[in-house]
Amino acid sequence: MDPKEIEDIEVYLLLEALRLRHGYDFRQYAPASLRRRIIQCLNRCEYTCISEIIPNLLYDDLQLTRLISELSIHVTEMFRDPGTFAVMRQKIFPMVAANLPVNIWHAGCSTGEEVYSLAILLHEAELLPRCRIYATDINPQAIEVARSGIYPLGRMRQYSANYLKAGGSGSLSDHYQVVHDAAHMDPHLRDNILFSTHNLATDSVFAETHLILCRNVLIYFDNQLRDRVLRLFLDSLSPGGILCLGNAEGLRGSALQEQFQFMMESYNLYAKI
Ligand SMILES: C[S@@+](CC[C@H](N)C(=O)[O-])C[C@H]1O[C@@H](n2cnc3c(N)ncnc32)[C@H](O)[C@@H]1O
Repeated sequence: MDPKEIEDIEVYLLLEALRLRHGYDFRQYAPASLRRRIIQCLNRCEYTCISEIIPNLLYDDLQLTRLISELSIHVTEMFRDPGTFAVMRQKIFPMVAANLPVNIWHAGCSTGEEVYSLAILLHEAELLPRCRIYATDINPQAIEVARSGIYPLGRMRQYSANYLKAGGSGSLSDHYQVVHDAAHMDPHLRDNILFSTHNLATDSVFAETHLILCRNVLIYFDNQLRDRVLRLFLDSLSPGGILCLGNAEGLRGSALQEQFQFMMESYNLYAKI
């Protein structure tokens, strides 16, 4: 057997251990990037082969949190793809504002930078007090950071530029306090945000929503898992509710494509039919 085939067996066993011991199911993640992340984890943690991770995973709960963090890519930024946030502000907010309250689900929110971006724009549009935002991610460590709303000050210059491109009406610095070398987001921004862990691969719908943002998450899933998640979103959205996916994502090729109508193809914005 060549080493690659042996590695396939190890990946299979690792994912089964993760699922059977802890209930996290990564079997339907896109295999190439999953394998890359497992190998990175291997190198960082000084294991010599993938199967060495398994006993630790079975007997040491700390390894679970670590592995979940390693397996999920949580790169994000404030006002990522500012054009999308500009469209959200100009076109989508007026549409969803008719609902009371406006329920928003930010799925796969990572460390929360996008959630605060949305909250800032909603605040500037005087809509935030009428909104309930459910911000969820599979990674409990990322959710802790999101809940704290504390970010490195060094990132704020780029975020300020993004904010202006997204049509922010003031200055980003109006929305955070500087403490030492960190930006602490204004606590009132999270008054109506509920941060929670939620696994799109295994958990179910928990609320009726009018707007769902799930950006740069579906790219890591295979088609079957992507369709499961789209079904969740369909079940959660009220009729006419809006789905916003990442720039590299879309509904093309999905069995659920017919259930949505394109609103703005270039921004991957869809409305539930
Ligand atoms: C690349 S980040 C995207 C963050 C943010 N939406 C953005 O676009 O900047 C992908 C996020 O998806 C989360 N994720 C991966 N699998 C998930 C799952 N099964 N359920 C919920 N979140 C998941 C990861 O933990 C990670 O935080």
